[in-house]
Amino acid sequence: MGSKNYSKALEDIKSTVNIVDVIGGAVPLKRAGSGYMACCPFHKEKTPSFSVSESKGFYHCFGCGEHGDVVTFVEKYYNLDFQGAVEKLCAQYGITIEETSGPDDRKRNEYYEANRLAARFFYDNISKKANKGYDYMAGRGLTAKTMQYFGIGYCPEEWTALTDHLRANGVSDRTMLELGLCSEKNGRVYDKFRGRVIFPIINVRGKVIGFGGRIIGQGEPKYLNSNESSVYLKKQNLYGINRSKDAIVREKYAIVVEGYMDCVSLYQSGIENVVASCGTALTPEQAKLINRYAKKVVLCYDSDKAGIAAALRGIDVLRGAGIEVRVLNVDDGKDPDEYIRKHGREAFLELIEKKSLPDVEYKVKILRESFDISDSTQGIKFLKDLAGIMRSLSPVEADIYIQKYSKEYSISEGALRREVESSAVSSKAAPAAKGSAPGKTPADSAQFARDVNLERMIIRLILLKGSYYETIRDYPEAFVTAKGMAVNTAFEALYSPGRDFDAEALKNELGEDERDLLERILDKVEVGDDPDRAFEDCVARLKEKRRKKRIREIQDILQMADALPEEAVDQEQIRALLGELQDISNLK
Ligand code: GTP
Ligand code: MN
Repeated sequence: MGSKNYSKALEDIKSTVNIVDVIGGAVPLKRAGSGYMACCPFHKEKTPSFSVSESKGFYHCFGCGEHGDVVTFVEKYYNLDFQGAVEKLCAQYGITIEETSGPDDRKRNEYYEANRLAARFFYDNISKKANKGYDYMAGRGLTAKTMQYFGIGYCPEEWTALTDHLRANGVSDRTMLELGLCSEKNGRVYDKFRGRVIFPIINVRGKVIGFGGRIIGQGEPKYLNSNESSVYLKKQNLYGINRSKDAIVREKYAIVVEGYMDCVSLYQSGIENVVASCGTALTPEQAKLINRYAKKVVLCYDSDKAGIAAALRGIDVLRGAGIEVRVLNVDDGKDPDEYIRKHGREAFLELIEKKSLPDVEYKVKILRESFDISDSTQGIKFLKDLAGIMRSLSPVEADIYIQKYSKEYSISEGALRREVESSAVSSKAAPAAKGSAPGKTPADSAQFARDVNLERMIIRLILLKGSYYETIRDYPEAFVTAKGMAVNTAFEALYSPGRDFDAEALKNELGEDERDLLERILDKVEVGDDPDRAFEDCVARLKEKRRKKRIREIQDILQMADALPEEAVDQEQIRALLGELQDISNLK
């Protein structure tokens, strides 16, 4: 009693932690085909033979034969025992190790086993003799092979077909009820999914964790689902991921659809990198799950109101997880399933290519459609909301889109820029705190707000002590807003070693807006009583940002090198880059 539940933690690790992330933090990994390679950390070698499979979650060295999963790696690499490795990973990835005792684990295994038996039963019922479920699915274009591949099944119409079957196999009524396979009325237990076709929900490790049951034909409720339980947490799983994860790695993006049928139907038509969110809004946990396999997502939702709302929410969640998002609203045929059955795979891929929009453009399009900008009040509101979207972007991205949209909507570029910057600088609270304003990506705008605050602190410190500028000259990226950059130019013009800046002289170098900014900074930004320390802090933050940027840059170069024929790449340079990457990514 009261011991730690390592096996639950292990499951959590395996379903949320990306092995490439972990091993990549220790050895410089290089993309190779659909996996990653490195020189083996467990024996001496010059040519890489240590290979990591992101989708399969294991590593193998073709030189020394060392192999294992993410936990084994941490055990061996950091010389820890199993529990130590689990604890290290949990600490690093924010997984809590629950206090528990044996019975909980036993319960989970019981759940898995009951679900497995039920899935088998449903599948036998659709595949072994004539039944309405098969006819319905076949009528909707699914082949027997697809039904088998996804384990799609049928629950007979009798009241207790599954209940009897599970009882005969030693499953307790309590377990059936807890899993939501059965219901109970007046002390009688009976099948919940009677007369429905069944979509088993299977996690990345191939365990059946729940079921969705669709009514045959019209009727309410259209779908019934298993209960949430210790093995089935809706927000942590995506339907189809067990089948599509390899294709997601291969294609380097995931298509996210709304429904079971969309997912299965796209897969059958040859679009295999697809998962379904199953009618709920995408969660950060689901975004993380996708992030293990690819860094890009195409959200492919219905073009109705609900679909648009789901896409807008999905964008923020995915962006927050660092995933690049495009959105496709299918409008010919009401959902992806119908579209692909009518037009086929090629047409669908072409639709993605030609009609999907980058998330920012999608948001702006939806925003634009909600205003009549010939009306000046609405025009101003549109400008403000548009600025809100721009503000949530990185400075470079914002710059590009500000130019694009000021042309497209004939807004003065200066006006839009001012709108974007004014509200970013004016509020001391991070604009991200305003939460659900349209176009906000919490992670991005929080980052930008931090960058803006850093810029202002640095300006304040330089105004206090001119000599700080000597250091900051080497970090022009510290200035992230247009006004900040103008102030930097003025600093550069007036800098003279060993002297403080004269505020009046600076103001003479600046336009009205920048002068206002200086005033406000002098007035509002507080340095505290140890300016040297504050300045060191700022420089440390700039260095850290540079380091991160350089890591991304090197990783990009190495990936590019990978795509080139060997003779096109200077191996000396690659070695130097790998060395540098190793040096600077030495986190642990
Ligand atoms: P078809 O109508 O058979 O094509 O199903 P679909 O999968 O396309 O469903 P739809 O687009 O209507 O809904 C998308 C998803 O939302 C479904 O796959 C379900 O996961 C979920 N959903 C839809 N209706 C219900 C319902 O009545 N109850 C529950 N729990 N979920 C539902
Ligand atoms: Mn549908």
